[in-house]
Amino acid sequence: MIKALYPGSFDPVTMGHMDIIRRASSIFDLLYVGVAANSNKKPAFDAGERVDFLHAAVEGIENVQVISFDRLLVDVARELGTQVIVKGLRAVSDYEYELQMAHINYKLAPDIETVFLAASTRYSYLSSSLVKEVAGLGGCVKDLVPPVVHDDIVRQLSRPHR
Ligand code: PNS
Repeated sequence: MIKALYPGSFDPVTMGHMDIIRRASSIFDLLYVGVAANSNKKPAFDAGERVDFLHAAVEGIENVQVISFDRLLVDVARELGTQVIVKGLRAVSDYEYELQMAHINYKLAPDIETVFLAASTRYSYLSSSLVKEVAGLGGCVKDLVPPVVHDDIVRQLSRPHR
C-alpha cells in the first residue's frame, strides 16, 4: 500500500488544490491532506476552519483523509507511514521554492520522495491569495473554490476584520 501526504496551507482550499487531490488520490492507495496549522504566512482562516473546509470538499473521495499538523513535514510523513510527499506545480514561478523544499525534505528524510504533479492548465493561475483578494473585494470566486464551501468562504472573507 502506497500512502502519500499532500501538505499545504490551504488558506482556503481552491479548485486547484482539489485538482491535485483528485489526481493524487487516483494514483496512491491513501492520500493524507495535511493542513499546516502554523503556516509562516499569517493565515486568513484558522486551522480548524481550513480543516473543516477540506473535510467538506473531499467528502465522497474514499481514500483521502484530512489532518492538521504543526511540526516538521517529514516527521509527520514518517509518523503516518507515507513514502511520498505530493506537491502541485502551477508555473515556473513555483519551481524554485518547491525545489528548495523538496531538497531540504530529502536531506532530512532521504527515504521519503517528493512527487510533483503539474497543475491542470485551467487552474494554473489560481492561488488561495487570489481567492482572498477577489472575494475580499466583492468579486466572484464561484468557479475558484469547491461549491460546498463557497458560501462560507465568501461570507468569512467579507467580514470587515479579515
Ligand atoms: O501551501 P504552502 O504554504 O506552500 O505550504 C507550505 C508547507 C506547509 C508545505 C511548508 O511550509 C511545510 O512543509 N511546512 C512544515 C514545516 C517544515 O517541515 N518545514 C521544512 C520543510 S519546507
